[in-house]
Amino acid sequence: MNKVQQYSSLTEVADFFSAISKDYVSFYDNQSFLGQYFSQRLAIVYRHLRQVLESQPNPKLLDLGCGPGMLFDYLHRQDHHNWEFWGTDIAEGMIRECTQKFGHLDNAHFAVGQVQNPEFPDQSFDAVICLGVLEYLEPEAAEVAIAQMNRVLKPNGVLILSLTSNHSLYGWNKNLISKIKRLVSQLKGRAYQPNVGDGRRFEEHKVRRLLLDQSLDEVETEYFGLNLLFPWVDNKFPKLSTQLYGWCDRLFERRLRWPYSAMVIKAKKSE
Ligand SMILES: C[S@@+](CC[C@H](N)C(=O)[O-])C[C@H]1O[C@@H](n2cnc3c(N)ncnc32)[C@H](O)[C@@H]1O
Repeated sequence: MNKVQQYSSLTEVADFFSAISKDYVSFYDNQSFLGQYFSQRLAIVYRHLRQVLESQPNPKLLDLGCGPGMLFDYLHRQDHHNWEFWGTDIAEGMIRECTQKFGHLDNAHFAVGQVQNPEFPDQSFDAVICLGVLEYLEPEAAEVAIAQMNRVLKPNGVLILSLTSNHSLYGWNKNLISKIKRLVSQLKGRAYQPNVGDGRRFEEHKVRRLLLDQSLDEVETEYFGLNLLFPWVDNKFPKLSTQLYGWCDRLFERRLRWPYSAMVIKAKKSE
């Protein structure tokens, strides 16, 4: 019987993201499906963060799994400059990118670190942000990570997560593709090796339950990222894919959930 590996190890994840750290910025290029996905997400995240930035004299923000600092870059281009920002990531390459680009700025602090073990004192941050990271953790580790985010949040602080959705066209496509790959591996008598970059997907009600169990409340979810086509079509025909993205987004106006590949979930820590 073949060994079925369900999740990638932390070292595999760190090596995978270190290897793509220099190219990662190009994924935010607006001419691609992924670029539109990311800019839609940044706009939603910023809307939540504005409340923190405008209500605190010197807010402290923590971005766990910060990648090459795209959120820092976005915030830095906005009006507010009263904030201080900490970013951590398991991939050394990502932190190297952040330090090279933003290390000279007084309000920027970057360090290698794991999302399930943020090395900060309790109640240090006004906002904790974690975008597209829990996908690469085993379910138990993701629960630990959420508990840790809550620990480092100040009372009244805001937690913002971005997660890919399992109940979506994208999720169904991805699930179908991995089932086919698993079957082909089995037929060939090979061990199934998941693709590190694929990550896993989440169900909104389960994440909400986790947050409420941590006494995080005022939970709000916003779906985004319309990708109706199979991933290889998006990569092969980016123009078609981005045009469809725009049309469908206008058509659905985010009233339905299943067409969207991901969600931003915001929650507040009670006093
Ligand atoms: C898809 S990228 C997202 C980067 C960034 N948050 C963004 O949205 O642009 C996932 C990031 O999570 C980091 N990561 C994955 N597992 C992690 C872990 N256990 N602890 C810390 N960072 C992790 C990866 O190294 C990578 O930089």
